[in-house]
Amino acid sequence: MLSTLGEFTGIFMSIASTQKNATHQVSSQTERILILDFGSQYAQLIARRVRELNVYCEIVRHDIRPEQIEKHGPVGLILSGGPSSVYEKAAPKCHPEIFQLGIPVLGICYGMQLACESLGGKVANTPTREFGRAICEVSQDDPLFEGIPKQSEVWMSHGDQVQEVGKNFVPLAKTGTCPIAAVKHETLQVYGLQFHPEVTHTAAGKTLLRNFLFEICGCRGSWRLENFAEEAIAQIRERVGDSRVICGLSGGVDSAVVAALIYRAIGNQLSCILVDNGLLRKNESELVLNEFTNHFKTDLHVVRAENRFLTALKGISEPQEKRRRIGHTFIECFQEEALKIQNVRFLAQGTLYPDVIESGAAVDGPAATIKLHHNVGGLPEKLGFELIEPLRDLFKDEVRQLGVELGLPESLVWRHPFPGPGLAVRCLGEVTKAKLDVLREADQIVLDEIHKAGLYRETSQLFAVLLPVQSVGVMGDARTYENVVAIRSVNTDDFMTADWSRLPYDVLATMSTRIINEVAGVNRVCYDISTKPPATIEWE
Ligand code: XMP
Repeated sequence: MLSTLGEFTGIFMSIASTQKNATHQVSSQTERILILDFGSQYAQLIARRVRELNVYCEIVRHDIRPEQIEKHGPVGLILSGGPSSVYEKAAPKCHPEIFQLGIPVLGICYGMQLACESLGGKVANTPTREFGRAICEVSQDDPLFEGIPKQSEVWMSHGDQVQEVGKNFVPLAKTGTCPIAAVKHETLQVYGLQFHPEVTHTAAGKTLLRNFLFEICGCRGSWRLENFAEEAIAQIRERVGDSRVICGLSGGVDSAVVAALIYRAIGNQLSCILVDNGLLRKNESELVLNEFTNHFKTDLHVVRAENRFLTALKGISEPQEKRRRIGHTFIECFQEEALKIQNVRFLAQGTLYPDVIESGAAVDGPAATIKLHHNVGGLPEKLGFELIEPLRDLFKDEVRQLGVELGLPESLVWRHPFPGPGLAVRCLGEVTKAKLDVLREADQIVLDEIHKAGLYRETSQLFAVLLPVQSVGVMGDARTYENVVAIRSVNTDDFMTADWSRLPYDVLATMSTRIINEVAGVNRVCYDISTKPPATIEWE
């Protein structure tokens, strides 16, 4: 996930700092659910599902103490799944008292096993591990299964299962190989599901979660992004007072939404800085410029620094060294410009919720964690600004939705991610202005054609790469010996793994013909059909 400056520079990918003043935006009055994370790949998915049902939730460490839970005032707790076995010595455990707080608990998979074990049951490995679809049969009426057919398809993924339940537990459902697929504690309001309601393969998953939230926890479902925006704006106003905030704009969605939100809160007390490093896509800086001068009318400082970046990159072909130099040059440019602006106390940054979770800085986590991925230095620390991170409670799609509500154009809100080091890592080998210009033209055609085909939103990231290879061709009657361009298009949910997009042949054909005809210096186009892993999305 890219943060405000990270989108632009490739640095500060996620400075999920929990600085003293980096408050959460969501007010304590908001009804909330806490999700205790036991290492499940699905913890974020559970959170998404809960928020889709208009209930605010946060993911917290599995060992959160009962008094800290009470401080948050949740109306329900969800214990996530996880890869461990509860009977292992090092298995992550929750505090046993959390079941006695009078707050309803739903344990999912490992979470159910842990709840059952903590309350007197027995969990063991089963000879018949269950992965994939199974039929769940409801054996006992209960508000949790309200409106759910007696038999429905569920998604299982477990090697262990609850074999015996403690006193006061009642089994609610079973599958062919799992006699206790759902349970309830009769007095404690503790529920367990061996299967995963958060995945779409569980047909009644959404209804089950809704039942838990609305019927059992008594939620009203009042969480709305509009409320979030109002609260965030009020909090920004109060915190900023009459000081000035600066925000680095990258052209990416996160930084644009942060700027739009802060602008809504404090108007012209916001100054934005756009460092044009000469490594942007064609017309990129103009687009941002138009939006933030014409639409939002912010105090926008554009630092034209193409030559400075190109000089820093001269003679350098090693990708990490390119990144390092771009990062340092960016800090210098940003810092110089920031110091020209008077009365600045805050630096706004587009840290998103997944950054906060991944860095362990969520509730009860380490005091201040800085993820080092792509990170070469600390701009906020250097400049002595306080951080404002108004998006730190939101997921990416919520940020997009917020952007639309704040009036940002769809073309900006739905942009594919763009790496901080920009075209420098798509212009393989040494970077020169001439090569960048060739790449920009080819890249523009690729984008143009995907938009024309109506497939931009169907792909996750799409771009051209200029290879450091010449190949022989024939144009007219003449032999050519020119550059090769590769087209890369991937589909992915999280950018950690990715598959190449199955673009229609005729779209690829038009891209190729146009690039070869229109871009001087290119006589061959290839399509990259590598998955990640083992390849990466970028070529460098
Ligand atoms: P890879 O190439 O690692 O890319 O599969 C995964 C995602 O990260 C982006 N990326 C970067 N973003 N600075 C950034 O801000 C970087 O140095 C950088 N390298 C890769 C890439 O575009 C993709 O979305």
